[in-house]
Amino acid sequence: MDGDGATLANLLREERRFPPPSGLAAAANAGADAFAAADADGEAFWAAAAARLEWAEPWTQVLDWSRAPFARWFTGGRLNVAANCLDRHVRDGLGDRVAFHWEGEPGDTRTLTYADLKDEVCRAANALLSLGVRAGDRVALYMPMIPETVVAMLACARIGAPHTVVFGGFSADALRGRVLDCDARVVITADGGYRKGAASALKPAVDEALEACPDVRSVLVVRRTGQDVAWTEGRDVWWHDLVAAQPAEHEPEAFDSEHPLYIMYTSGTTARPKGILHTSGGYLTQVAWSHWAVFDVKPEQDVYWTAADIGWVTGHSYIVYGPLANGVTSVLYEGTPDTPHQGRWWEIVQKYGVTILYCAPTAIRTFMKWGEEIPARFDLSSLRLLGSVGEPINPEAWIWYRQAIGSDRCPVVDTWWQTETGAHMISPLPSVATLKPGSALRPLPGIHADVVDDTGKPVPNGSGGYLVLTRPWPSMLRTIWGDEQRYIDTYWSRFPGWYFAGDGAKKDEDGDIWLLGRVDDVMNVSGHRISTTEVESALVSHPRVAEAAVVGAADATTGQGIVAFVILRGGAGGDGSTGDALATELRAHVAKEIGPIARPRQILVVAELPKTRSGKIMRRLLRDVAENRELGDVTTLTDSSVMDAIRDGLPAAA
Ligand code: WT7
Repeated sequence: MDGDGATLANLLREERRFPPPSGLAAAANAGADAFAAADADGEAFWAAAAARLEWAEPWTQVLDWSRAPFARWFTGGRLNVAANCLDRHVRDGLGDRVAFHWEGEPGDTRTLTYADLKDEVCRAANALLSLGVRAGDRVALYMPMIPETVVAMLACARIGAPHTVVFGGFSADALRGRVLDCDARVVITADGGYRKGAASALKPAVDEALEACPDVRSVLVVRRTGQDVAWTEGRDVWWHDLVAAQPAEHEPEAFDSEHPLYIMYTSGTTARPKGILHTSGGYLTQVAWSHWAVFDVKPEQDVYWTAADIGWVTGHSYIVYGPLANGVTSVLYEGTPDTPHQGRWWEIVQKYGVTILYCAPTAIRTFMKWGEEIPARFDLSSLRLLGSVGEPINPEAWIWYRQAIGSDRCPVVDTWWQTETGAHMISPLPSVATLKPGSALRPLPGIHADVVDDTGKPVPNGSGGYLVLTRPWPSMLRTIWGDEQRYIDTYWSRFPGWYFAGDGAKKDEDGDIWLLGRVDDVMNVSGHRISTTEVESALVSHPRVAEAAVVGAADATTGQGIVAFVILRGGAGGDGSTGDALATELRAHVAKEIGPIARPRQILVVAELPKTRSGKIMRRLLRDVAENRELGDVTTLTDSSVMDAIRDGLPAAA
C-alpha cells in the first residue's frame, strides 16, 4: 500500500455510477432476496445453496467450527463432485447440451457435450484405476489448455484422488517441488501445446522434474502437438492407448463432504509455495452458487467464457467446477490473445455467441493498448455481462471494458477472491448493485468481510486498512498441505479469530470496498501471484549474484512489474549498469528457475541494499526508487547513505 496515496485519492474521486440494466434485474437468479436470506440465517442460506447439488447422503451439520480455524462444512454429507458436474445433467436429459466449445490455437476445434464429457471422464477414471490410483492418492497435472485437462481433473475427482494442477508455464524445478511436496505418484501431461503460433513442449520439463522424483511410477501423456518426445519405458503411457481402451462406464463413489478435492500451489511470503487444500462439498457449493449468482448464468441460453488458464484457481472454479456444476455451455481456448491476430478473442466471442466473458485487468489493459478499433471489427452483440478478476482494475480499464467490449450496455462485475477463498467473496450482484468503476463493492450474501486497522479495529467509512474475513465460508481453504501450523500462522494469527487476506483495502463513504493490492511481500504480475523471496532465491542461485532484493513496481499493463536489485559476487558492478548481457542472463535464469511469468522486467546492479538494524531489506524504499518517487522514511536504515548511493548509481531512466 506504500506510496499509493495519490492513486487512492484518484480512485475515490471516481464518481461514475452504473445502475443494473432493468432486463437483467427483472430476470436475475439472485438479488436482494439472497442478501435477506443470508442475513436472516447464514447457515440456512448455505444449506439452501448446497441443496442445489446432488448428495448421496445428507449432511447432519452445516458448519462445524469447533476446531477453528479448521472448518468442516456439511459434515456427514457424501457426494461425488464429478457426478454432480456430469452424470446428473446427463440423467436429467441434458446429455446433448454442449459442455465445451474448444478452440485450439491453430484453429482446430472440438465440441464436447455433457454426454461426451461424461464418457471420457469415465474412461479416464478407469485408466487411472488401472494405473493403481486410489482414493486419496495425489495426481499431478502439467497440461496445455485442451479438453483432456478438464477430463483428467474430473476423472481424479470421480475416484477421489486429489489433483494438483501445475501451470504449464512453470519450470521443471517448480513442477518437481510441487510433485514432491504432495507426494504425487502419477503425472498427467502432454507432448506440448500451442502458444504464440508454435508448438511449445511440456514433456521435457516433466522428464527433467522427475529425475528427482523416484516415487512417480506413471506418466500419462496426451498427444496434442505430435512433436517428438523422449520416452521412459515402463513409466510413460500414451493417453490414446490407455484411456481409449477403457469402458465408458464407471460407477461414481460418494465421498465425504470434507474429502480432499485438490491442492493448488500459490506463492506466499517465503520462497516455498503453499499447497492450498480444497475439499468437496463446501467448495462445490460456493463455487456453483457464486457462478450462478454473480454471472447470472442461464444454462439454457448462455455461452460462458472464462479466458484464463486452468492452471490457476480461476480456471478450477470458473472454467471447470462452477460452470459444469451449473450445466452451462462454455468456451475453452488454448492459446494467446494475439495469435494469429490481435482480434482472436473477439473472433471467438462472435463465432460462439459468447454472452458472459470473465478475464483479468491485465488482458483488458493490453487490449486498450492495441486499440478499440480491433474489437470494433467483430460482432460482440451477444455479450451481456463482463467480469474481472485477479488484481485491482483501474477505473479507466473498467470503463474501456464496458464501452469497447460491452457496447456501454454490459455490467462489469469486479470479483475479489483468492486461491485460498476458492470462490468469489467480494463482488457486485449485477441484478441489484449500482456499479462503481474500480470497486468490488460488498461481500456477497453469506460472506462477512471488514477493513481493520493495525490493532484489528474496523475502520470507519472513508478510511483504509487491512482486509479481513470475519466468518468461515464453505469454499475456504482447509489447510496448507502438510503444514497446519503455517496455515494458522499465515492466515489466522495477524488478527486472531479472523482470516487475514494479505490485501489492503479502503471503505468509501458508502461503506463500499476498494481493493488496493497486497500488503505483504507478494507481487501481482498480470494477475499472477509471485513472491519476492521466490524470485530473490532464484537470483542468488546464479553464480554471479551475491544478494538480491526484488520489488513489484507499478506497471501500466501488467499491474506490477518485477524489479530486481542485485549485488554481484566479487564486488563487481555498483555503477548501476549491469552490462546488458548479464541482465539478460539473469532474467533468463529466473525464467528457467521459476517460469517465464517470473522473469524480472528490470535488473539493477547495486553495491549495497537498504537494511534495517535487524537485517530486513526495506523493500518499500526500493519500490520508491523503482517507481521513481521521493524516498519515504529512511530513519530505520542502518546506513541512510545506502539509498543515495543506489539512486546516484542508477541509469537516469530507472
Ligand atoms: C490476490 C489473489 C482470484 C483468482 C485469481 C488470483 C488479488 C484478486 C482481485 C480483485 C483486487 C484482486 C488480491 C488477492 N485480487 N482479485 N477483483 N481486485 N485484487 O488468485 O493468485 O490467489 O491471488 O489477487 O491481491 O489477494 P490468487
